[in-house]
Amino acid sequence: MQDASSPAPDPALIARAAQILRAGGLVAFPTETVYGLGAAAEQPEAVGRIFSAKGRPADHPVIVHVQDAAAIDQWARTAPEGARRLAQRFWPGPLTLVLPRAARAHDLITGGQDSVGLRCPAHPWARALLAACGGAIAAPSANSFGRISPTTAAHVRADLGEAPQGKVDCILDGGPCPVGIESTIVDFTGVTPRLLRPGSITRAQLEGVLGVPVPDAGSSAPRASGRLDSHYAPRTPLVLVPMAGLAAAINARRGERLGVLAPADALLDASPQAVLRLIAPSSAEDYARRLYAMLHELDASGASTLLVVQPPQGPDWDGVHDRLRRAATTI
Ligand code: TXA
Ligand code: MG
Repeated sequence: MQDASSPAPDPALIARAAQILRAGGLVAFPTETVYGLGAAAEQPEAVGRIFSAKGRPADHPVIVHVQDAAAIDQWARTAPEGARRLAQRFWPGPLTLVLPRAARAHDLITGGQDSVGLRCPAHPWARALLAACGGAIAAPSANSFGRISPTTAAHVRADLGEAPQGKVDCILDGGPCPVGIESTIVDFTGVTPRLLRPGSITRAQLEGVLGVPVPDAGSSAPRASGRLDSHYAPRTPLVLVPMAGLAAAINARRGERLGVLAPADALLDASPQAVLRLIAPSSAEDYARRLYAMLHELDASGASTLLVVQPPQGPDWDGVHDRLRRAATTI
């Protein structure tokens, strides 16, 4: 999880951030997936500040970040055996379990639903912060509602900003997030487990542990902002094009300022009218890690349209396809 670009947690910064959380403030912190906007989970007033800072509707639930699987029994009133097996296998890590809520999970956390989302993050800064504040941290991604998720502290600074001018009391910089897309979410409130959001832990991995199929949640799925079609969207219109259609898509937009994200060989043909050309990483893991940073960069490039070549198909790519599909919806 640690590499040259992610510094070890600084004890003084962690202690200060934990103090801010205990006092009811907001702390942006790195997780292995994306940066989270955290508040002390048991302080409804503090959790309420998350919604104002993001401009997020109050009926959207937020994930509770916990230190270990023992917290399941504090926040959920029951947990099926399968949920416990997934926690044992994938925690700490990029997996969120949606379970029937216990009384501790107040309405601001659950969005008024009867369920709570729990996740035990693996990132050393997130773990250090959880240990130092001594409780659970409610945290959605640290972006304004409907905008691109942040994978660096600079993304958070540019969007929400840090106090005194900005909306976040403290932004911890633990380097770029190594996974890059939000956690896989599995709903255990129904008769059988369902996939609410694909992520780096794949359906096949979940099914391998559970021994049963994990279908996508249908339209009866609980409210979740990650499920809104226009979520994760850059401000610039983004068009997904098949590899074979890139040249035609560029030709059809003569005179426009284009931002293009395509595999290296296809980029060679991308027209000179592109104001920014980014090479699409060839592995799903690298693509996911860099996806939001690339979208941030494309959005800031001055292009009037973004053309993104559809990445390859395959189970490892589900999370990337899901986010690109939502980014491409401009209505
Ligand atoms: O990787 C992640 O999950 C990141 C990091 C910060 O942990 N967090 C994140 O939070 O992506 P957020 O709020 O941006 O997305 C969490 C998704 C939302 O779509 C939310 O509605 C859903 O999880 N969610 C949370 N609690 C839920 C619940 N009780 N039932 C259904 N969906 C829930
Ligand atoms: Mg989010």
